[in-house]
Amino acid sequence: MSEAVELDPVESKMWITVTINGSKDTYLVEQRLTLADFIRKQVGLPGTHLGCEHGSCGACTIIMGNRAVRSCLLLAVQADGESIETVESLAENGVLSPLQEAFHANHALQCGYCTSGFLMSLVARLREGPIESEAEAREALSGNICRCTGYTGMVAAVMSLSSANGQNGEGV
Ligand code: FES
Ligand code: FES
Repeated sequence: MSEAVELDPVESKMWITVTINGSKDTYLVEQRLTLADFIRKQVGLPGTHLGCEHGSCGACTIIMGNRAVRSCLLLAVQADGESIETVESLAENGVLSPLQEAFHANHALQCGYCTSGFLMSLVARLREGPIESEAEAREALSGNICRCTGYTGMVAAVMSLSSANGQNGEGV
């Protein structure tokens, strides 16, 4: 948290400045508001989902400072000065990203509730380098839980990506 954070003595709220999907803005937030609820309710980006709300399922995964994090375990005030990416950042002008397209093509989702978390975990992982084997794909998926569609389609989706369309860490 930066020193610029100011405590409002009346409301017990704090001003934070966050860059979300490329847009930098300042928000007055409740000190105990979770980052997930901030993103969903205050910023109005409902693509980040809440499942367990205690760090187990990964449905709430976003990228903060280039790392995949569970937004249900963080407070909004901890995002002060940070740059955040949510699932809404992936598609451009209605065109799915290569990873999203791969999920679609490989039937990697059923109800889709878990999907945004999986996608953001994978985006962060792919920025570290290509996923070159099914074992690496399963490792990359292992921090998230899907209740209904299983993991075979997701592994196939990841393995279908090539360095030309998303495995180079750019534009996934
Ligand atoms: S809702 Fe955050 S890990 Fe499950
Ligand atoms: S697709 Fe339904 S929980 Fe994963």
